[in-house]
Amino acid sequence: MTITKEDELDALKEIGRIVANTLQAMSTAVVPGMTTRELDEIGRGLLERAGAVSAPESTYDFPGATCISVNEEVAHGIPGDRVIMAGDLINIDVSASRNGMFADTGASFLVPPSRPALDRLCRDGRRAMQIGIAQVGAGKPLAGIGNAIGKFAADRGYTLIRNLASHGVGRSLHEYPEEIATWPTRDKRRITRGLVLTVEPFLSTGGQWAEQGDDGWTLYTEPSAPAVQYEHTVVATDRGAIIVTLPG
Ligand code: CO
Ligand code: CO
Repeated sequence: MTITKEDELDALKEIGRIVANTLQAMSTAVVPGMTTRELDEIGRGLLERAGAVSAPESTYDFPGATCISVNEEVAHGIPGDRVIMAGDLINIDVSASRNGMFADTGASFLVPPSRPALDRLCRDGRRAMQIGIAQVGAGKPLAGIGNAIGKFAADRGYTLIRNLASHGVGRSLHEYPEEIATWPTRDKRRITRGLVLTVEPFLSTGGQWAEQGDDGWTLYTEPSAPAVQYEHTVVATDRGAIIVTLPG
């Protein structure tokens, strides 16, 4: 969507805060021995209490309130009987709507004990997102996001998953301008004032693509390699991006 009024921005910030708080609380709640279903139930409860509705569930009939992906799973992991273990790399993606306004956020983190290579991947994954967000502004090229992230990734020997794009969001989970690459492209489109979009690169130590598993949802890296995702919903303004998915 395109934000034109202050009350639209306020409503977007409200659902942005709800998904960010839910993501933060779920990340804090993770302990080894817990199933991903138990973790999802925490998220579901938080969304419900805030008057929000899970977006993947309401939009795509996804079998869970949130997407929880562990280790070899890169995205759209279904909450279930899988037991979270010490040393697991977890990604939680929370998207939801309230009063017809949608926001989307996600993050990856390591369940202790830490492992230097994966710690570095997580830190750089967050930096890749921030580098992309720094390219968001009214009138700027849409390809600037992926080109900046691509340079950062290449300089450090990382790969980017090239079929999981960022997207427009706001009045629905995925909308105009549809797919926004977080890898280098020659996309000629420009970012318009007030545009609401996500910035969500998937940084990996070798993965190039995400392939769907037998359950019809879970995505795996191809070739198989660790991958992380960090995602914010942002609004493009004349002075750069406003991040709306901040806890508070
Ligand atoms: Co998301
Ligand atoms: Co998204």
